[in-house]
Amino acid sequence: MTVEMREGYEGTGPGAITPDGCAVELYSRLTAGAEPDIIEAAVPAGARILELGSGVGRMTHPLVERGFTVTAVDESAEMLERVRGARTIRSTIEGLDLGEKFDVVMLASFLVHSGDVEVRRGMLRTCAAHVADGGCVLIQREGADYHTKVPRERVDLSGYTVRLVSAEPVGGGVNSVRAEYEFPDATWTQTFLARPLTREQFEEALAEAGLAVTEYLTEDGTWVKAVPSA
Ligand SMILES: C[S@@+](CC[C@H](N)C(=O)[O-])C[C@H]1O[C@@H](n2cnc3c(N)ncnc32)[C@H](O)[C@@H]1O
Repeated sequence: MTVEMREGYEGTGPGAITPDGCAVELYSRLTAGAEPDIIEAAVPAGARILELGSGVGRMTHPLVERGFTVTAVDESAEMLERVRGARTIRSTIEGLDLGEKFDVVMLASFLVHSGDVEVRRGMLRTCAAHVADGGCVLIQREGADYHTKVPRERVDLSGYTVRLVSAEPVGGGVNSVRAEYEFPDATWTQTFLARPLTREQFEEALAEAGLAVTEYLTEDGTWVKAVPSA
């Protein structure tokens, strides 16, 4: 598999950078936050989870510890090398065809907001194609003011600052977003293309892929549960 930077995506800082501008060293430092709790509460105990865009396993590891069987997919070999306790598959999400079904398919980290509509369509098709009958798809989408409340920053308790520096329109309903992560000893940046989606646009995109939203799992509407449409 050739790994070229995706157009409009860029990353700076120490260590390997993925085609979408993520830094492997950075993601190795970030903690999982509330996400494993949200996922655990939404799916059956011990479920078989297909995690799309797993990175280094920030969420994979707590899920494995909680008794889930995880298959982690990422296009970056450097990210997957750090995943422990899960089967790993190196592939683009949009090009994945495992010929297997899972109780849960997860598409986190706002990947559904890809600037490229064809990539988004492919990702959602992959979700629909890999979810078992009676299973569900969990998607993490952006909050309502993600692109408008900029610049903004949050100081994490573990001692780093994450800053959303800018979100500049580049045409076609897409923004170029720049994020910075400042640690005492290193700084990483990521620039990426993101397409804001209203709740209606998000639900339409899922419907096009044969998925129907059944529940917004968090008050801010960012974690969503969907199932194959009847
Ligand atoms: C922002 S990181 C988040 C990783 C992980 N979900 C987390 O929360 O720590 C996004 C990850 O998705 C991967 N990725 C992005 N677009 C992808 C695509 N189209 N196909 C496969 N992997 C992709 C990147 O290589 C990166 O590891």
